[in-house]
Amino acid sequence: MSDSSSSEFRLPLEGKLAIITGASRALARVALAYTSPSSEAQVRALAERIRALPYAAPTFAVQADLSTTEGPSHLIMNLQAQFRAAAHTGDGVAHPQRPFVIDILVNNAGCERVVPLGQIDVADYNEVYDVNVRGVILLTQAALPYLAATGARVLNIGSVGARAGFKDLSLYCSSKAALEALTRCWAAELGRRGVTVNCVSPGPVQSAMLDKIPADIVEMQKAQTPIQNRLGTIEEVARVVAALAGRDGDWISGQVVSASGGWAMY
Ligand SMILES: NC(=O)c1ccc[n+]([C@@H]2O[C@H](COP(=O)([O-])OP(=O)(O)OC[C@H]3O[C@@H](n4cnc5c(N)ncnc54)[C@H](OP(=O)(O)O)[C@@H]3O)[C@@H](O)[C@H]2O)c1
Repeated sequence: MSDSSSSEFRLPLEGKLAIITGASRALARVALAYTSPSSEAQVRALAERIRALPYAAPTFAVQADLSTTEGPSHLIMNLQAQFRAAAHTGDGVAHPQRPFVIDILVNNAGCERVVPLGQIDVADYNEVYDVNVRGVILLTQAALPYLAATGARVLNIGSVGARAGFKDLSLYCSSKAALEALTRCWAAELGRRGVTVNCVSPGPVQSAMLDKIPADIVEMQKAQTPIQNRLGTIEEVARVVAALAGRDGDWISGQVVSASGGWAMY
């Protein structure tokens, strides 16, 4: 137990490049991706906090609308340009000879619509599926040529809703169910090149998104959560993601991990 080299107690993601979408409201060199211009200040503040950590991880901020067909490739191209530019400023972020390699992709950006079946229109469908499903497919595809040759990680942030039956949330829940299937298929496809693909499915966590979920659904989930009948925290979910992103996740792929305090549907 005293051999810290057998696991990762200190800087498990040191030197790696991680892209985290939907990072405006919430490790390694970190690329924080967001979409709303109003989120820029939050992302800059988060980048400062990351730089202030003992390891002083270099950070990049990238604005891209993942609901568009061009947004995902724009994100990767923009990040690549920033990465290369940093190599020439001598700040140690990247070495000119060092290729642009993505070690970790966290598909976290997501959105939800609360709308009953009888009122769903194509705009509602597009709003949810363009970000939660198509955006994840196109971003992972755009990242593919740059994924590390060994040990790259793709982490999709799902939801316990994927396996639940919440009224008025069929678009959101079904989009998260699609992520679970994408996770299993990509694990099968990419495993040969050493990439692990997993899905972390949180239960309710306080956020702007949760504020829009009907209160009776959230209260029901809390009441059915074995661990202390409470909401999860961002940190509790982030630690699950970090564990799967590090070496301790080497032999885990194609899995859906529920980060929900043991919520009943799992
Ligand atoms: N909170 C929960 O209870 C809960 C539970 C289960 C699963 N989840 C999942 O956890 C993830 C994060 O949720 P959250 O609670 O942090 O949600 P949130 O507070 O609503 O934040 C959503 C994030 O996604 C980004 N985003 C939305 N649309 C985008 C687009 N078109 N292009 C690029 N980025 C976009 C937002 O960027 P801007 O700020 O720039 O708009 C923001 O950073 C989501 O996938 C969500 O489904 C959350």
